[in-house]
Amino acid sequence: MSEREHWGSRTGFILAAAGSAIGLGNIWKFPFITGMYGGAAFVLAYLICIALVGFPVMLIEFAIGRRTQRNPVGAFKALAPGTPWFMVGGLGVVAVFVILSYYSVVAGWTLGYIFAAISGAFHNLAEPSQAKDYFENFGADPFKTIICHLFFMALVSFVVIKGVKKGIEKWSKILMPLLLVILVVLMIRGLTLPGAEDGVNFLVKPDFSKLNGNTILVALGHAFFTLSLGMGAMITYGSYLSRKENLLSSAVIIVFLDTFIALMAGIAIFTAVFAHGLAPDGGPALIFHVLPTVFPHIPGGYFFGILFFLLLFIAAITSGISLLEVVIAYFTDEKGWSRKTAVIVFGGLVFLVGVPSALSTGPLADWKIFFGMTFFDFMDYMSFKYMLPLGGFLMCIFVGYYWGAKEFIDEIKSGNPAFSLRPVAAMVLITIAGILILITLVTGILGVGA
Ligand code: PHE
Repeated sequence: MSEREHWGSRTGFILAAAGSAIGLGNIWKFPFITGMYGGAAFVLAYLICIALVGFPVMLIEFAIGRRTQRNPVGAFKALAPGTPWFMVGGLGVVAVFVILSYYSVVAGWTLGYIFAAISGAFHNLAEPSQAKDYFENFGADPFKTIICHLFFMALVSFVVIKGVKKGIEKWSKILMPLLLVILVVLMIRGLTLPGAEDGVNFLVKPDFSKLNGNTILVALGHAFFTLSLGMGAMITYGSYLSRKENLLSSAVIIVFLDTFIALMAGIAIFTAVFAHGLAPDGGPALIFHVLPTVFPHIPGGYFFGILFFLLLFIAAITSGISLLEVVIAYFTDEKGWSRKTAVIVFGGLVFLVGVPSALSTGPLADWKIFFGMTFFDFMDYMSFKYMLPLGGFLMCIFVGYYWGAKEFIDEIKSGNPAFSLRPVAAMVLITIAGILILITLVTGILGVGA
């Protein structure tokens, strides 16, 4: 087998992992769920989930990946030979098909909206009902949604085919700084709008009466989704790391960047939404129904409209890359496929699995496959509500009770000799994270969460 490729630099790795974490989850999902579940109180619940669950699980994934230098399935096989633990990695490979297939469809919408913004289409949208019609017309057109989905998958495949250093790392180094610049520009625009304070207050002044069990369920599910955890993406990225790398500080930086960007996106969006007296609880369509009507009213709106959807598209690309890389790592490591063949076959397959999602806003809108959900809704629901938390839960059990806290600590120490934590303390932290995830999963299954 040829030598495993490694990241060219620490910055390259951090930008790639942050690129995976920062995606539609931060700019599309975080603002709309914050809007739906009560603003600052939700933000607080989310920050607690990130600290107590997200951060430890990220470290666990990096440690497993770096120790074994393998894809998620191979990693569990190496650490627990002859046991069914490899299935946790297998769950991750399946999760890629579920997540990437619909993720690519949403990314496709953002692409469609970049063109809409360029063509000046937003200028005819005076109020949200018109923007809603516009979105519905766009979503109902199978040709547009499928072509945009295809284009996104082609782009992601183009980067992944080039490999870790020349593809993923190179593009992350270009796209992530660009994303940050665009977001800063948009945030400043939002903050300088008259009435912007209301948007900021919505994000920082908690109303605890809004906090309930469901808020916490959603916050935890989102912590997994936004940090790309529970399906082996971070195991895969960790497997391209050398022993010299400091896992702890890398995870701190990545979690910080992800959270920071989500909050910045929240500010950029809610300042604009509140400045125009619009409702923050627009749901998944918030940025597609509400924002296009805001742009025509603000100075420079034409330009900011294009930038906003470009921002979303860039964020989606670097996350899509990390999703596809999980399957590619599996087929190249375990099955000896060439990277090129694996990307062509699986990029193509993910595209096909995504077609029903692309049609869910159009011809297949009435095809309810589960509890009134369209194919698209079902994919989203399954992944963020169950698959990712389940994967994360099993990883906690694996490290805490099979591989062992001592090995885990040793792995963190490699590259960071000053690190010290007693195995019992690590066990306690891992167990707390595991229990929190378990509660979420069980209550979710019992139907407490919507
Ligand atoms: N973290 C990405 C986002 O916030 C989504 C993602 C989930 C990517 C799981 C990879 C793995 O959009």
